[in-house]
Amino acid sequence: MPLGTGEAGGKAILFGEHFVLHGSPAIALPVSSRCVRVSLSANGSQGLSYDGPAEGRVVTLAMLTHLGLEHVRISLAGDLPLAAGLGSSAALAVAIVRATGVSDPDEVRVAAHQLEQIAHGRASGIDDAVISYGTPLLFRPDAPPGARFIKLAFPAPPFWVAWVPRICSTKESVARVATMAAAEPTRFGALVAATTRIVSEGEGALRSGGHAQVGRLMNEAQAILDEIGVVVDSHRKLCELGMRAGALGAKTTGAGGGGAVMFLGPAEMELDRVLAAAGFGHSFFAGEPH
Ligand code: MEV
Repeated sequence: MPLGTGEAGGKAILFGEHFVLHGSPAIALPVSSRCVRVSLSANGSQGLSYDGPAEGRVVTLAMLTHLGLEHVRISLAGDLPLAAGLGSSAALAVAIVRATGVSDPDEVRVAAHQLEQIAHGRASGIDDAVISYGTPLLFRPDAPPGARFIKLAFPAPPFWVAWVPRICSTKESVARVATMAAAEPTRFGALVAATTRIVSEGEGALRSGGHAQVGRLMNEAQAILDEIGVVVDSHRKLCELGMRAGALGAKTTGAGGGGAVMFLGPAEMELDRVLAAAGFGHSFFAGEPH
């Protein structure tokens, strides 16, 4: 017997990934052109069953168990790349919460965040928030609870996404950065301060449509992410190719260690052709979701 269906898009963090877990604000954009879709049905005495890509199995079953849904069949479909830094675990959490009948965006965000902690251990909440609200978002982790998520009232800039396989999970990547933060507090503190400035300047540039400046800030953010060890060689190559194809900026997005790179640039940019010619087969235009 069908119990419910739910859908959710992905996300791309424009500025502040990792540092958001150490006090910096961050800006995230929804990726509404791709989605995760779940459908739940009663499974009676057969307990929990899962139909979907292998890489989604463990986390999906853990989320359902957490919700006390131990006698359901879940089918997972959609075209959002999984485990690529595009928020698939948060999208899965949001889709599952929606499939259980919750529709108020604030309630969806809070419930999805509980589930997301299962996948990521220590999650800031930015992924669940941008996916629940489906709008560009400024996250201020130091603000009082009711004022942390600020919906940005302008369309997301045009951007592209490409990805390569991850060599470490978000959980591992977050743990490595935390080790560096503890070992080198002065150096890390300077990077948090630099990221805080980039987020503030980036918000201003986004508000005024200054995309060239947003691109420059993305390149600056990428150099900082490289310093904390989350940028892999293939990401450096992707960024270089993207800039050659005419992108205004290019950076690793999300936890890194492989996964996604985002590029600021219009739909007409020949990015997928340039990347495919260099052997990078996975890219899509993700911008202008409104
Ligand atoms: C993952 O998309 C972003 C991180 O900053 C983790 C988080 O904020 O929960 C790496």
